[in-house]
Amino acid sequence: MLKGSARAHTNIALIKYWGKANEDLIIPMNNSLSLTLDAFYTETTVTFSEELTTDIFYLDDTLQDEKGTKKISRFLDLVRKKAACPLFAEVNSYNHVPTAAGLASSSSGLAALAAACNQALQLDLSDRDLSRLARRGSGSACRSIFPGFVEWQKGNSDETSFAEVVPSSGWENELAMLFILINDQEKDISSRDGMRKTVETSAFYDGWLQTTTQDLASAKIAIHAQDFEKLGTVTENNALKMHGTTLAAVPPFTYWSPDSLKAMNAVRKIRAAGLPCYFTMDAGPNVKVLCQRKDVAQLKEKLTHYFADEQLITAFSGPGITYL
Ligand code: ADP
Ligand code: DP6
Ligand code: CO
Repeated sequence: MLKGSARAHTNIALIKYWGKANEDLIIPMNNSLSLTLDAFYTETTVTFSEELTTDIFYLDDTLQDEKGTKKISRFLDLVRKKAACPLFAEVNSYNHVPTAAGLASSSSGLAALAAACNQALQLDLSDRDLSRLARRGSGSACRSIFPGFVEWQKGNSDETSFAEVVPSSGWENELAMLFILINDQEKDISSRDGMRKTVETSAFYDGWLQTTTQDLASAKIAIHAQDFEKLGTVTENNALKMHGTTLAAVPPFTYWSPDSLKAMNAVRKIRAAGLPCYFTMDAGPNVKVLCQRKDVAQLKEKLTHYFADEQLITAFSGPGITYL
């Protein structure tokens, strides 16, 4: 019996990954940059065993059906090939984050699974190679191997596409991300399908792609200079551009709900009144607000004028992979 257990935290991109250059290898169209968070995480145990005749996947103690298991079986096939191991596996995973709601469960979920496999099969992967492996499960998962600010270098092959830490002299610890939970149920269009439809059909996709390189450079300059306003401005602008692409897809779609707009407007108002804060959104209706740690209590208080206390969750910079 070969067993491994790991914990991975979610990450939220400030400069988004939105579109694949290679669907099979999960090579992205552009570099992305994220913040790993402390508040949301996944813990996964994998056991490869001669007694199993198929892969089995429990998520939060619920046995997953064939469709849900197939996704991780495909990932386990990659691992089995790498390790020259023919055994089926039982995967037990606990999401301390709502699943498939646009809160980045695939980033922590697949990073934790990759690390658990690394341990179980004694692959002894470097962090970079673990990042490459996690990427094959879900693109954003390659960034959850690392703490704090992380950049995913898109590369142009399996070997050259991986994430790495963006040096920031610990500035990430002076920041916070406040989550406004609008809907924690499973979204209608997965990130994978949403980005595929966008790349294939959106008239705005080229516009998005042409400006992400500049956005990423601005974000890195802002991190280097510890310039919060600059980082926040480019973060918010980048997210709005990403969401703009879905409106021009055929057929068009959006991840926004009426309350997402209410949250974005609240952030703009609070900012105009003098508290620096900026929003970002992913493939789901929930809104995340980037602010400075010193302002987090004040921001939360101001947001309670718009949303219930239970809808507001505070996150700070979080750690990379931990083996359990
Ligand atoms: P999210 O916004 O939550 O990242 P995605 O559409 O990107 O949503 O991915 C959701 C999918 O990620 C789930 O349907 C499931 O296949 C996978 N996933 C989420 N959590 C886990 C986990 N703990 N272990 C394995 N796979 C997971
Ligand atoms: C909008 O990593 O979930 O959150 O690679 O197909 O599994 P797959 O998609 P995923 O996409 C994340 C998209 C995003 C932006 C981001 O996290 O960079
Ligand atoms: Co995801």
